[in-house]
Amino acid sequence: MIRDMNGHDLSDVHALETGCDPMPWSVNALQYEIDNKESILKVAIRDNNVIGYMCIRTLLDITHVMKINVLPEYRRIGIGSALLIESLKKLSSLKSDVKHVTLEVRASNSAAIKLYNKFGFSKAGVRKNYYRNPSEDGLVMQLDMQSN
Ligand SMILES: CC(C)(COP(=O)(O)OP(=O)(O)OC[C@H]1O[C@@H](n2cnc3c(N)ncnc32)[C@H](O)[C@@H]1OP(=O)(O)O)[C@@H](O)C(=O)NCCC(=O)NCCS
Repeated sequence: MIRDMNGHDLSDVHALETGCDPMPWSVNALQYEIDNKESILKVAIRDNNVIGYMCIRTLLDITHVMKINVLPEYRRIGIGSALLIESLKKLSSLKSDVKHVTLEVRASNSAAIKLYNKFGFSKAGVRKNYYRNPSEDGLVMQLDMQSN
């Protein structure tokens, strides 16, 4: 099941973050996004446990993918796709004026790049040494919303 994230999910999502993201968000950073009316947060739930989550945030007519993470044991069964679909569906229903959805992804992260390509994102540029732990270039990818 995919649903909106709320304050009760904070500790589960934070545990997921620290477990599988080399640059994890703090509880305060997660709370900031929950409180931000420009952010959309979705969680994937199985057997009452959070197994994935996604956060996007809009600034004017551009929406940025801030986070998408699925627990390793639940990857490759469609959870990331479902989070992306439900987040973009909510975005379309709330903000018809968004022109682009953008994101950065590690150049070596072929799983995520394939996921984004599958949903119509294409490469828009490169940010040199954008990432730390380890240092790596970030690919900028973009989805045009108004041609969909
Ligand atoms: C990227 C991530 C969110 C994908 O989640 P997921 O639930 O495994 O994705 P899905 O099962 O919906 O896969 C959708 C498509 O993505 C691609 N994909 C996902 N994982 C892949 C892998 N390991 N290898 C190759 N392609 C992959 C495939 O095209 C797949 O479609 P298919 O199964 O029909 O071939 C997940 O791997 C993850 O949490 N990674 C760690 C965090 C991360 O890298 N986030 C992105 C930061 S920019």
